Amino acid sequence: MANTTLMMIKPDAVEKGHIGNILEKVTSAGFTIKALKLTQLTVDNAESFYEVHKERPFFEELITFMTRGPIVAAVLEKENAVSDFRTLIGSTNPSEAAEGTLRKLYATSMGENAVHGSDSDENAALEASFHFSQRERF
Ligand code: RTP
Ligand code: MG
Repeated sequence: MANTTLMMIKPDAVEKGHIGNILEKVTSAGFTIKALKLTQLTVDNAESFYEVHKERPFFEELITFMTRGPIVAAVLEKENAVSDFRTLIGSTNPSEAAEGTLRKLYATSMGENAVHGSDSDENAALEASFHFSQRERF
């Protein structure tokens, strides 16, 4: 699993029509798509996915945001996928994100920041299983 990560294109970026632009940047950066779907998180799904943040002050806002419309989920493969994808997406706060990163290009705020990337190999494996069955992974 060390060479895969889980991406979500969040509801803000889907609403703005950025799915194609983001997938193009992801594949141009050398990631291979191993699984892909348009889906919508239920409140239960989002609370479970972001359980680690449940005591944080922004948790309710995060759940409302992540469930308000469709997202794109994808499993991406590349050497050092987790850290290279975190570099490609940029800082959580788009005002601190480096030039050319996905959040610099497409995010509007700390909360509505366009893209998710797994933060460890362990979470990448858990998050990939959260979104995809074996039949949906290639
Ligand atoms: P993500 O998990 O979505 O890839 O984002 P991240 O690692 O860069 O940031 P994390 O600390 O895991 O936070 C998860 C998501 O919660 C929202 N957030 N809002 N209003 C706020 O202060 C705040 N802080 C975090 C963001 O949507 C963030 O991506
Ligand atoms: Mg995170």
